[in-house]
Amino acid sequence: MKWLCVHKEDHDIRKTIDWNGYLPKHIAIMMDGNGRWATRRGLPRSAGHYAGMQTMRETISMCHRNGIASLTLYAFSTENWKRPKEEVDYIINLVIEFVEDATVLELNQNNIKVEFIGDISKFPLDTQEAMRKVVDLTQANSGMTVYFAMNYGGKSDIVQAIKLCVEEHNDVSKISEAEFEKFLYTGHNPAPDLLIRTSGEKRLSNFLLWQAAYAELWFTDVMWPDFNEQLLYAAIHDYQQRKLRALDA
Ligand code: FPP
Repeated sequence: MKWLCVHKEDHDIRKTIDWNGYLPKHIAIMMDGNGRWATRRGLPRSAGHYAGMQTMRETISMCHRNGIASLTLYAFSTENWKRPKEEVDYIINLVIEFVEDATVLELNQNNIKVEFIGDISKFPLDTQEAMRKVVDLTQANSGMTVYFAMNYGGKSDIVQAIKLCVEEHNDVSKISEAEFEKFLYTGHNPAPDLLIRTSGEKRLSNFLLWQAAYAELWFTDVMWPDFNEQLLYAAIHDYQQRKLRALDA
């Protein structure tokens, strides 16, 4: 009776969390390992990205069910353009598929707001159009916000923010940290409390370099398509324990 066992594990991990205690309000995820997941199964890398998209959908739903206010997903980095054109085109088409199919309606029905961070002007016009449509559709929603980082890089985020900030301020000596960060792609949004990276890599890889300054980092060897609710609970549990230890110190 495997399903009973899985259900029990789920329940037990969830039970270790004090849901009235310290919880991350904003989780950021580096969804890494799609390619390796596919290659290990003798599949093309595109199959890994497709499976990764399904996991991404489920993760949005899990976070929503568990009361997470904001979720940022690293979906396409500024470095990803260096991949073979075929792979880049496949990921871009997945975005269109995601925003045009029923998922978006489901997000909207669940009062979820969608935003994109990064320089989306580099994507084909139809992709940008599809992104804007979903942002407009969900703009008034007040439940969880999902930020998709697309053509996002922490360094280019900081550089574009410097340009905008200096343009706005004649006297650069007046620029404070608080003033500067308003110009980042993330603007007034809260910084991530917990940053999760799958696939065993333990680097920030140019993700939210400024914003993750105080985030708790949590790594798992599991490839992104295999990420699941137990792992999310394990990450939240660790986050909570670290916060409690910091209070005791
Ligand atoms: C990292 O794995 C994953 C990506 C570069 C792409 C992630 C994209 C999705 C999950 C779908 C995006 C869809 C929308 C709607 C935003 P990797 O390819 O670097 O894996 P590897 O490290 O094993 O090669």
